[in-house]
Amino acid sequence: MKRTVLITGCSSGFGRLTAETLAGRGHSVFATMRDIDGKNAAVAHALRERAAATGQSIHVLDLDVTSDASVVTAVDAVFEHTDRLDVAVNNAGIFSGGYLEAYRMEDIQHVFDVNVYGAMRVNRAVLPHMRRRGEGLLVHVSTVAARTPFPFSVPYAASKSALEALAQGYRYELALLGIDSVIVEAGAFPTAILDKMTWARDEERAAGYEIVEELKDRSFSGLRDYVSSDDAPDSRQVATAIADLIDLSGDRPLRTVVDPFGAGIRRINEVAAAAQREVMESAGLGALVR
Ligand SMILES: NC(=O)c1ccc[n+]([C@@H]2O[C@H](COP(=O)([O-])OP(=O)(O)OC[C@H]3O[C@@H](n4cnc5c(N)ncnc54)[C@H](OP(=O)(O)O)[C@@H]3O)[C@@H](O)[C@H]2O)c1
Repeated sequence: MKRTVLITGCSSGFGRLTAETLAGRGHSVFATMRDIDGKNAAVAHALRERAAATGQSIHVLDLDVTSDASVVTAVDAVFEHTDRLDVAVNNAGIFSGGYLEAYRMEDIQHVFDVNVYGAMRVNRAVLPHMRRRGEGLLVHVSTVAARTPFPFSVPYAASKSALEALAQGYRYELALLGIDSVIVEAGAFPTAILDKMTWARDEERAAGYEIVEELKDRSFSGLRDYVSSDDAPDSRQVATAIADLIDLSGDRPLRTVVDPFGAGIRRINEVAAAAQREVMESAGLGALVR
């Protein structure tokens, strides 16, 4: 079945690859990104050219997930082209590093604004339409770090844990309304994420952490080395996993792990799924758990 899909954060990485993968499978894609007439003009142009050359359906729209107005304008623009929106892929996100104590509040708030409230803004804009039609799918791109937060990038992990709680909440609350909500948990992949990451900026606070500085630096240089090595996995695996979830006709799993080292996270997810079902059933809410 061909679906109409809106994706956020298509200027690079998983977002762009997902737009290309879905369009290649015949879906109608609304590839959104910030600043399509400025810093992202070249990629917006390339996606449009690709659509024109292949006959695939890719519309490029401006969407900044931190702006209510931008999200509403983009979703309204989708309905100038089509009368249905089947799927929203909440992919836009930023990574961030540094000691937790060295985050100023405005910096941590920004991480949450993009990674958490950004998805809520998008879901809030698309859900009235999906509810009216009694069908739809919300996809949330998360990380294995949402399940096991790594030190020195805790606000990122915390934001993705929050995103996962929301995704699970949408799933329960929308289950009887015909709308599905899923999470894709990715490991480390070679996208633009490390080039675009933000850092904790309070150097005075960071100065107190000298004893773990080498460990922090080593963990980031290890991550950089891994994603720029031949061992790094192909980022298209994540795009394929998202596309497979969209194409799935039966029950979709709540969580899909895409990570060559993901065995431990899959184990956590299996235990959590069984425990959550038990808790929901004992609360009389079993009907909301697929
Ligand atoms: N790569 C990994 O190892 C990894 C692992 C687990 C999860 N993830 C998640 O995967 C998702 C995609 O990341 P990626 O790895 O593909 O990195 P990426 O190449 O840096 O892509 C991130 C995308 O998000 C966009 N974005 C950032 N702030 C935005 C905003 N305010 N409004 C709209 N778009 C915004 C970026 O656009 P601009 O170009 O305008 O900044 C970019 O298009 C993120 O949610 C990330 O947390 C990545």
